[in-house]
Amino acid sequence: MVADTLKPTTNGTTGRKDSQDDKSGDSGEELVALILTEGAKLPIDFKQPFLLPAWFDKEKFQRGQRFFNNNYFALFVAKLSGLLAILAVESILKVLILTGKSSEPLTAFRRYMDTIVNMVDWYEGDICNPNSVCRKSLLTIRGRHCGANKSSSAAGFGPITQRDMAVTQFGFMGFPLLCAEKLGIQATHEDLEGFIHFWRVIGHLLGINDRLNLCRGDVESTRTACRRILSDVLTPALETPVKDFPPMASALLNGMWAMVPILQAEAFMDFTRHLCGIPQPNELRTLYSRMILQLQLFVHSVLLTRYYLALIFRPILNFQMWLAVFLTPKFPLLAFLTFGRNICTTETHYQLQPTMLTAS
Ligand code: HEM
Repeated sequence: MVADTLKPTTNGTTGRKDSQDDKSGDSGEELVALILTEGAKLPIDFKQPFLLPAWFDKEKFQRGQRFFNNNYFALFVAKLSGLLAILAVESILKVLILTGKSSEPLTAFRRYMDTIVNMVDWYEGDICNPNSVCRKSLLTIRGRHCGANKSSSAAGFGPITQRDMAVTQFGFMGFPLLCAEKLGIQATHEDLEGFIHFWRVIGHLLGINDRLNLCRGDVESTRTACRRILSDVLTPALETPVKDFPPMASALLNGMWAMVPILQAEAFMDFTRHLCGIPQPNELRTLYSRMILQLQLFVHSVLLTRYYLALIFRPILNFQMWLAVFLTPKFPLLAFLTFGRNICTTETHYQLQPTMLTAS
């Protein structure tokens, strides 16, 4: 079906039938096989209409948004680990190096701050309103991807693929689904359904084809699919990283230090390996990094997991993370102290360019 021939319906959806009518890729295993073969040949789909799909379910979507608010702290940690893990994927890393916006702690700080601000807009915004901050943010990101896609093709790396989109989708939602216990995430089955639906919709609006959407299935099949992405793509990439990975990873982590000063690059890298189930290669170098890793493990597996402790500490940790997200873009004090005067807050949002609406 040619996507741009679809007419919007009165409820603002595409009127497209639920992609689950197409049974190929229904099991998690099949879906990943499809993503890794067919998805590696198909580019990100900028022609997919920027409309909510017919399978959009407002209630489920909002449940996904509430799940985020209840687990604000743990989901941020999971997302940072996810971003770190996808940096190890060479085809994604190449594009990020090419755009040059995340190779130094200062640029990485700006870039990831921007990612966080956008993501929070999606989690807190009104997706049904085409004029909402949330929808405008998604359109802006689509535009940035369109620009990056053109640069990547021009540099001979080829376009951004559906495979890389699905792997990046994992970066945002995979660890919470696979490692809820290790992270101290509190979730019912319905919460996870909502969370998966949320990322299915975000993926769709950013140009992931419905058949190749990592979040197209139910909780169990999505979990199976995520497990396969982790074992077949991310774990091997983290175990034998390409040479550009360590500097990009430390730029990300040292940049994010200016938002979360308790973050320690080496310890966080080990925490991410722990989420992946990768044995630690060797003892952390400094006493400080060992202490921070132990503290992080304690926070997630004790303070956020034991029932009575979690009742007290979850809201406190959620609030302090919320405060950091709220204050850092406005008053980047630590960034100012670390990077000096040339720090500026996140890029101006939502100025639509004509290229954002066109296919590359
Ligand atoms: C579901 C998948 C994805 C999501 C949710 C997502 C999300 C985002 C967000 C929130 C931003 C804004 C941050 C900023 O501009 O500084 C962004 C920018 C960007 N994304 Fe993605 N992204 C996805 C997939 C990808 C993939 C697969 C690639 C490359 C292979 C990619 C490359 C970029 C680039 C190059 C930018 C512009 C900033 C820069 O140059 O570093 N994204 N994305």
